[in-house]
Amino acid sequence: MFESTQPMPDAVVSDIYAVSASDEIIQGLSTHPAYISPKFFYDAHGSALFAQITSLPEYYPTRTENAIMAIQGEAIKREAGVVSSLIELGAGNCRKAQALCALLQPQRFVPLDISEEYLLEATSDFREKLPGLAVYPVACDLTQAIVLPAHIPPEGRLVFYPGSSIGNFDPAHAADLLRRVRDLLDDDGALLIGFDLVKQVDVLEAAYNDAAGVTAAFNLNMLQHVNAIIGSDFSDDDWRHVAFFNPVHSRIEMHLESVAETLVSWSDGERHFAAGERIHSENSYKYRTHDFVNLLAANGFSRSTVWTDAQGWFAIVLARP
Ligand code: AVJ
Repeated sequence: MFESTQPMPDAVVSDIYAVSASDEIIQGLSTHPAYISPKFFYDAHGSALFAQITSLPEYYPTRTENAIMAIQGEAIKREAGVVSSLIELGAGNCRKAQALCALLQPQRFVPLDISEEYLLEATSDFREKLPGLAVYPVACDLTQAIVLPAHIPPEGRLVFYPGSSIGNFDPAHAADLLRRVRDLLDDDGALLIGFDLVKQVDVLEAAYNDAAGVTAAFNLNMLQHVNAIIGSDFSDDDWRHVAFFNPVHSRIEMHLESVAETLVSWSDGERHFAAGERIHSENSYKYRTHDFVNLLAANGFSRSTVWTDAQGWFAIVLARP
């Protein structure tokens, strides 16, 4: 099938924030303890801050995953077989897919991301780098239904979910997402997914408490994004970044902690925070390989091939229905 790469379509916006973003945020702010979903990190500035995080010396996941991909490229290619559509979840700057498309030579690339503005910029950069490939960006919220453009053929799909972004979902929601990904695939389809491994606590915690303060800025930026969505009056100066490993749940937790007693208001509500009170902004689950393979198997992916790095810090799995 011939697919023109011109003219450039806008992103298909599939039910972004189908549950109204402001309702969802206000609900989390009205709960004790308060929480805000990590998907609200990603306005255009938050996506750019995350891209900065990925090259920090303390943030091992991205470079470790990239190294595994580089070293295991031929093995991944062999396992993946013929890929006609590469579908990336949480594509961000689309850099990882550039390398994967060069390796697997799909006919089309379908990047999905919650940050529409950032996605469109990344897409135009991608089109310059790989002009022969048809690119169909979709702005969507992975916690809602995943709807692909109708013309993407069902056969030969590879869903790519790198970076351990699955770690943002608690086990029940990760299971639900994997089942929904399975439903996107024919029996010949596959999932290539990166997940972060349990390791020394100091290594884990350093990755979320970088010396340059980029992760802190990323966490605090969420409050500006929230202000833009619900019209609240969060001020950066009133909050500080907190990140630590919770061994009971095997996850890094990020929180925003109030430095002093503070009242946050929005059009039809407010929330009082005591000094030291926290808003839970992110979980990042760390797995043992066999637990993650079992999670895949329990949710529609019974055949897995796993690659890891020499230190056993990160893993990539090619999973088939
Ligand atoms: C994009 C979810 C994979 O959990 O490591 C990075 C997000 N948060 N630093 C992660 C993140 C703080 C990242 N994921």
